[in-house]
Amino acid sequence: MNFLVFGPPGAGKGTQCKLFVTRRGFVQVSTGDLLREAIKSKTELGNKAREFMDKGLLVPDELLLGILTDSLKSMDKNFILDGYPRNLNQADALEKVLAQVCKSITAAVFLEVPSSVLEERLSGRRVCEACGAVFNISLKKTRQEGLCDVCGGKLIQRSDDRIDVIKERLQVYEKNTAPLRDYYKKKGLYKEVDGNKEEEQVYSSITKVINL
Ligand code: AP5
Repeated sequence: MNFLVFGPPGAGKGTQCKLFVTRRGFVQVSTGDLLREAIKSKTELGNKAREFMDKGLLVPDELLLGILTDSLKSMDKNFILDGYPRNLNQADALEKVLAQVCKSITAAVFLEVPSSVLEERLSGRRVCEACGAVFNISLKKTRQEGLCDVCGGKLIQRSDDRIDVIKERLQVYEKNTAPLRDYYKKKGLYKEVDGNKEEEQVYSSITKVINL
C-alpha cells in the first residue's frame, strides 16, 4: 500500500510520516527533505532550489520531477509521499510517473489544521542537525534545551521557519496546494483527518482512513 499525505505547512505531515516509517516499515519520500539534502551537499539542484525555498516559494516543477522519478523507480517498499504533489501540474505529473514505474497510490490523506495553530507550530519548530528529529520549543519540548532527545545533537531552526517566510508559505499553500483537495475528491482518493489533535490521535485516525 502506498499513499500520500498533504496539507498546509506545519500540519504535521513529516511528524506522522516518521511514525509510519518506524512502526509500519514505510519509506517516506519527502521532497522537502530531498531538497534540503541537495542544498547541504551543494549540488546544482540544491543551489537552484535554495533561492526559492528561502523565500517560501515553490521550487519549479521541472527541477523536482527528476528526483521524484529516481526515488520512486528504485522503491521496493511501501511508500508515503510527503510534500509532493504541491500543485495540480505536479499531481498530473505524479500520475504519469507512477504509471511509468508500475505503482499507484490508494489514498490522498489531507491533514486539516486551522491556520491560527500553524504559525505557532512552525515558528517553534526545531530540528536536530544530526539526525533530523523534529521538536517544538512550546509544543514538543526536549529534555535539555537546544539538544536532541534522540541523539544529543544540536537543534536548529529551519531557514524557512522565520515568521516572514512562514506567512509567504501559507499563502503559497492556499493558492497552489489547497486545490488538490478537490482534485483527489474527484479521483475518489481523498481522505480527511483532523490534524489538530495529539500526535498519537492523528496517527490512529490516519491508520483508520487508509484501512491499515
Ligand atoms: P517541506 O519541507 O515539504 O515543508 P512544508 O510542506 O511547508 O511542511 P513542513 O515540513 O513545514 O511541515 P509538516 O507538515 O511536515 O509539519 P511537521 O511534522 O514538521 O517543503 C519546504 C520547501 O521545499 C517548500 O516551501 C518548497 O520551497 C520546497 N518544496 C518541497 N516540496 C516541493 C514541491 N513538491 N514542489 C515545489 N517545491 C517544493 O510539524 C511542524 C511542527 O509542529 C513541529 O514542531 C512538530 O513538532 C509540531 N507538530 C506536529 N504535529 C503536531 C501535533 N499533532 N500537535 C502539536 N504539534 C505538532
